[in-house]
Amino acid sequence: MNPFVVGNWKMNLSLEEASTLAMDLRQGLEGVDGVEVGVCPPFVWLPGVCFVLMGTKIRVGAQNMHWEKKGAFTGEVSGPMLKDVGCTHVLLGHSERRHLFGETDSMINKKLKTALSLGLKVIFCLGERLEEREGGETFTVVERQFTAGLEGVGQEALPELTIAYEPVWAIGTGKNATPEQAQEVHGHLRNLLENKYGNETASQVRIQYGGSVTPENAGELLAQPDINGLLVGGASLKKDSFLKIVFTTQERMRSPI
Ligand code: PGA
Repeated sequence: MNPFVVGNWKMNLSLEEASTLAMDLRQGLEGVDGVEVGVCPPFVWLPGVCFVLMGTKIRVGAQNMHWEKKGAFTGEVSGPMLKDVGCTHVLLGHSERRHLFGETDSMINKKLKTALSLGLKVIFCLGERLEEREGGETFTVVERQFTAGLEGVGQEALPELTIAYEPVWAIGTGKNATPEQAQEVHGHLRNLLENKYGNETASQVRIQYGGSVTPENAGELLAQPDINGLLVGGASLKKDSFLKIVFTTQERMRSPI
């Protein structure tokens, strides 16, 4: 199982900056081996980025989608549209969608099922808020998000799924979870996967960590047994820091401790 490193560009970068970054990644990642890499640009830059990255192994994902395939949903974007444009992946349940835009577990579940039915691969994000961690509710919260988000999702869909654990208090704050804090939750998520889908299937699902990932902390996070990739926000906006994270990941896989 190769680790999966994804850059979430959020609502950043101009057209020119996005094109330049995509071209730099195309060039900079040419020889990369043993790591799967993806980027999630804003919707409007998807066609251009897909075009630049065509023929490479770099995956392109959207940051969100609607659960209906078409219709009167002003301002929304559908799964078939994402496929048309060349996306292979979609991020669902990101904490900014949950907490700034009111997405509920049941909306995320509907989106997840639609995406999988269309053959889009899903990066399913979950994670607790600071007050939930401080209240000792971390496991309860991620378990609720996990169970509700994956309701009705069968074992056959699991190869298309990546889970991203992103503690809300670590996102964009410069305060990443320690490798031990992250591993504790990743291990719990692995147990939840085992209980629902069996050991073999569970062992093949990649669980990414996200939240203030940098070139400096990537290696120690990836040294944890249940951290199988990274979801990178801020540090994915600059060529140098994102490439460093990918190379650190490659290095880690070649010489695991
Ligand atoms: P960050 O964002 O790396 O800027 O903390 C991560 C994310 O929200 O996916």
